[in-house]
Amino acid sequence: MLRVPDIHHPVARLLWLENTHGARAGMAVSADAMAAAAGVAHGAGLRVHCDGARLFNAAVALGVDPTRLVSACDTVSVCLSKGLGAPVGSVVSGDAACITEVRLWRKRLGGGMRQAGILAAAGLHALSHNIDRLAEDHANAAVLAAALRGTPGVSVVEVAVPTNMVMLDTDVPAQQVVDAAAHDGVLIHALSDHRVRCVTHRDLDRAAVGRAADVLSGFFAGRLTAAG
Ligand SMILES: Cc1ncc(COP(=O)(O)O)c(C=O)c1O
Repeated sequence: MLRVPDIHHPVARLLWLENTHGARAGMAVSADAMAAAAGVAHGAGLRVHCDGARLFNAAVALGVDPTRLVSACDTVSVCLSKGLGAPVGSVVSGDAACITEVRLWRKRLGGGMRQAGILAAAGLHALSHNIDRLAEDHANAAVLAAALRGTPGVSVVEVAVPTNMVMLDTDVPAQQVVDAAAHDGVLIHALSDHRVRCVTHRDLDRAAVGRAADVLSGFFAGRLTAAG
């Protein structure tokens, strides 16, 4: 919904898109959907930014070049850590005037860094070696989702184009699942009272994902047995 001019409201200047969409269980958003949303925003005089922290996951899942996903955006940020596996780093891209302002804000906010080349080198390595292999993370997430689908006490949040996340709605408090899993060496995250998020990445192989599936199904089976 576009905010209409009203003195009670802030003035809308930017449409912020996210791809993949974290709150939507890491769903990859198609190039057409991105372009359609950007078209509406541009028509209303807004600029368009894509938070592409996981843009390469979206591109791999959709089988498209990442540039196609953001061709209608004015600025794009991508993250070099997360799935790409660099220890740190994000990159923002936009036109020259915008990047001049970005640099100013980076400095103002304390983000200026000397000798950053060593970090940039890790980012360049990630960009040249770790994009195609994101498909393995997606396949591993699909294995985890398949193992848990149909398990009593938990339901997998289904999305049209999944990537490296599995979200689970749980009958018991999410934190209880997280704590039990952590006790067995599986680190997942409580997103809300009854929703947990599991993320696959390059440090998890198929065996580790199988073990995570066993731990989680064991938790739900044990809880149900105890409850019964
Ligand atoms: C969707 C999304 N955007 C942006 C960020 C911020 O990334 P960074 O701290 O590398 O700038 C995150 C970090 O978790 C994220 O999940």
